[in-house]
Amino acid sequence: MKGLILSGGKGTRLYPLTYTRAKQLIPVANKPVLVRVIEAIKEADVTEIGIVVGHTAPEIQEALGDGSEWGVKLTYIPQDSPDGLAHAVKIAHDFIGDDSFVMFLGDNVIEGGISTLIRDFSDNDWNSQIVLKEVENPSAYGVAELREDGSIQQLIEKPEVPPSNLALVGIYMFDNNIFKAVNSIKPSGRGELEITDAIQWLIDNDYTVFPHVHKGWWIDTGKPTDMLEANSHVLEEIAPTIAETAEVDSESTVDARVTLQDGAKIINSIVRGPTSIGKNTIIENSYIGPFTSVYHNCEVRNCEIERSIILENSRVIDIEKTLRDSLIGRNATVKRSDNKPSGIKMNLGDHGTLWV
Ligand code: TTP
Repeated sequence: MKGLILSGGKGTRLYPLTYTRAKQLIPVANKPVLVRVIEAIKEADVTEIGIVVGHTAPEIQEALGDGSEWGVKLTYIPQDSPDGLAHAVKIAHDFIGDDSFVMFLGDNVIEGGISTLIRDFSDNDWNSQIVLKEVENPSAYGVAELREDGSIQQLIEKPEVPPSNLALVGIYMFDNNIFKAVNSIKPSGRGELEITDAIQWLIDNDYTVFPHVHKGWWIDTGKPTDMLEANSHVLEEIAPTIAETAEVDSESTVDARVTLQDGAKIINSIVRGPTSIGKNTIIENSYIGPFTSVYHNCEVRNCEIERSIILENSRVIDIEKTLRDSLIGRNATVKRSDNKPSGIKMNLGDHGTLWV
């Protein structure tokens, strides 16, 4: 069994953060989503992993290297343009060879990992296993219509009138027959080779595709609101740790469910968990509320922050109102100014949003 992670794509829905960075490298609970995906695959004892990469390949390669840091062997598979998930499978044929594989979208996070799914797939003679999840807005996803016996009748990509509320989660298991499928289908109306069409091809040609309905949470971190939700879920799931080199002064209160990474400093502040404070980040005279991740080398002074993500090297200083449900990029500054004339002043990046 091999692993295949899809980490190409454009990431337009996460602009402006993904103008300058691969969306799969944005951290959730202070760890890049892509690293969480690698760890989930490794946990299921799959260590040979191919990563499909697009225009952000150099950044992804720099972050992950050969994978030895996580005990896996990574092979990079360049995709010239994001021509669809089934196209990504097609170009991975040489890497996969005759093996079966688990394919994981590099921006997905799932509760409880995938070890059981992989065991079920290995123990049965299915040609494919897909993962489904009940969602409120099925039109935004690939949707499955099941027969009364639970088998799959059909899969439709982003249907206007969804036949069910069962969305395809970004985790799939295939044997080698998927290559026949991806070589037989044609691009869809939006010009992509769709994985739903490839799986439909398997169904139509009497291959067994087993639908597993996932009961825990699953998040496709494609949009800012999803990022915050994933952050909350993962913070709740992880075991908190306090690094030996982290410092908390006697004026501060730090909850039991708080992670403090190396060199983090908490001065005269309250930190409520679940929350994660990154390496060398300083929190002073502030309140950091639940479900917040402040990444490495940040500075937060005289502020209140709740349910937010702040990326590395950013500064949030002297803000009177509570900062809530916010996503702040790298090297950003949010600061009070007393200069006259008063008013709101900003240098806002392309596609950024400021709510006042
Ligand atoms: P999507 O979220 O469907 O596409 P995207 O990354 O282009 O994002 P947006 O819609 O915001 O522009 O992709 C799901 C995952 O699959 C993501 O990790 C990127 C990856 N992917 C590829 O590797 N190759 C592809 O051709 C496509 C379409 C996606």
